[in-house]
Amino acid sequence: MWTRNLLRCANQLSSRSVTSASRHCTAACTSSVQRKGPTSVVKSEIGLRGAVPWMVHVRNSHMTAIKDRGAYDERAYQHVKGSDVKSLELVSDGKLLRVTWGDGKTSQFHSVWLRSVCFCPKCRMDHTGQCSVEFDTVSNQSRLLSAEDDGEGCLTVQWKEDPGHTGIFPLKYLKAHCYSKEAMETKRRDVQMTFSKDNVIPRVSYDEVINTRQGLYKWVKALNQTGISIVEGVPCESGMVKKVCERIADLLQHTIYGETFDVKAKARPINAAYSAGELKLHMDQPMYESAPGIQALHCIKFDESIGGGDNLFVDLFEVAETFRKQNPEEFAFLSKIPLPFETVHYERDWPVHMRYYRPMFNMNKHGDLVGVFWHPHLIGALQVEEELVEPFFEAFGKFYTLINNFPNCFRHRLKAGEMVAFNNRRVLHGRAAFTNQTGERFLQGTYIEISEFKSCVQVLSNLEGDGRSPVRVGDNDLL
Ligand SMILES: [Fe+2]
Ligand SMILES: [Zn+2]
Repeated sequence: MWTRNLLRCANQLSSRSVTSASRHCTAACTSSVQRKGPTSVVKSEIGLRGAVPWMVHVRNSHMTAIKDRGAYDERAYQHVKGSDVKSLELVSDGKLLRVTWGDGKTSQFHSVWLRSVCFCPKCRMDHTGQCSVEFDTVSNQSRLLSAEDDGEGCLTVQWKEDPGHTGIFPLKYLKAHCYSKEAMETKRRDVQMTFSKDNVIPRVSYDEVINTRQGLYKWVKALNQTGISIVEGVPCESGMVKKVCERIADLLQHTIYGETFDVKAKARPINAAYSAGELKLHMDQPMYESAPGIQALHCIKFDESIGGGDNLFVDLFEVAETFRKQNPEEFAFLSKIPLPFETVHYERDWPVHMRYYRPMFNMNKHGDLVGVFWHPHLIGALQVEEELVEPFFEAFGKFYTLINNFPNCFRHRLKAGEMVAFNNRRVLHGRAAFTNQTGERFLQGTYIEISEFKSCVQVLSNLEGDGRSPVRVGDNDLL
């Protein structure tokens, strides 16, 4: 393959060198050159001495080469729009590259930033595409010597401080990672959660999820946007929750309760979920550093003779935003206090003693909520300075009251054959108490790790949809 590419390059050299050379910019060129046609070379060179058509011999091969090396997969950026280049300009003696795109937007990339994401063989490993930049050779003194649109989807650059190093960048990758003020605001807007207005849980069928990638995309998209969805028509057999969730991730998220867990009322339960009592709204297992991501509960049996047992779901992020509006000081205070979550259980095959102290609210530097944690049944002993104890319980009590009286709530009595899936980092779940003398209520559950879920949404968005990023999933991602 590689030999063939070299030969192809050699052929291109002989057939295109005249065209390229005739349109080649020299040091005398202006710093910004408009593209003249589909085969023209857009070029901006400042300080290029003894200019020769130095890129001609590989002009058409950059994209092919980085794809063949496994350094770049264009499916990840196929939906990026307007990535053709109108003009390139080196600014501040090559400290910055200014790109004007086909859609009229502009980006400025620092020379040092470009060093950090270069796709050349020196900077990215073959097959994995992982970064192999030696950062001790990269500094803010980095300066661009030249930049060129190769007309085949890549930008190439030369650096003053690193002669012979040809930087290679897919244009769609650059456009996708533009960090102008406007682009960053758009990205923040695109990942904002919106909250359900009608509290209707979106539904998909088991058949479409299992049998088609479009059906799977429909499911994960709804789950990402609303935080909850129901898969209906799931066969009422043990093991089906695993089968359905393995459509998202090939390894489910194990916890101390196993790969899957059976939710049935039993004597001497190890968890309140395995009783018939009320469960207040909570997320599962925030005593883990990485709490479960998606939770799925497949209803295998729910006899009509059983009274109660409805599930309740509330968007924790909506509650937190409401609390912030109503109680800004308490909100700020609670975002600094390590809330103790704990599970202590020695009467089991692998005794458990887990504690984790974390703030209830995590924000990025703009104040956007990126993570919220809540489980009233797993609250441990507060460990703070004495003067903070009473202010904590004052603020904590207000939040507790708000959650348990929050008007926007999904309420649903599961039917056999339904599997409800929800983002455990975002949508709290609770359960009304039920009577279990006269029938059976049997749910089987599992978890999917949150990053793997988010990855699935992005991949399917790229392969089946419009390429949009997932909205926030509550994983503390700071963007
Ligand atoms: Fe739970
Ligand atoms: Zn490189």
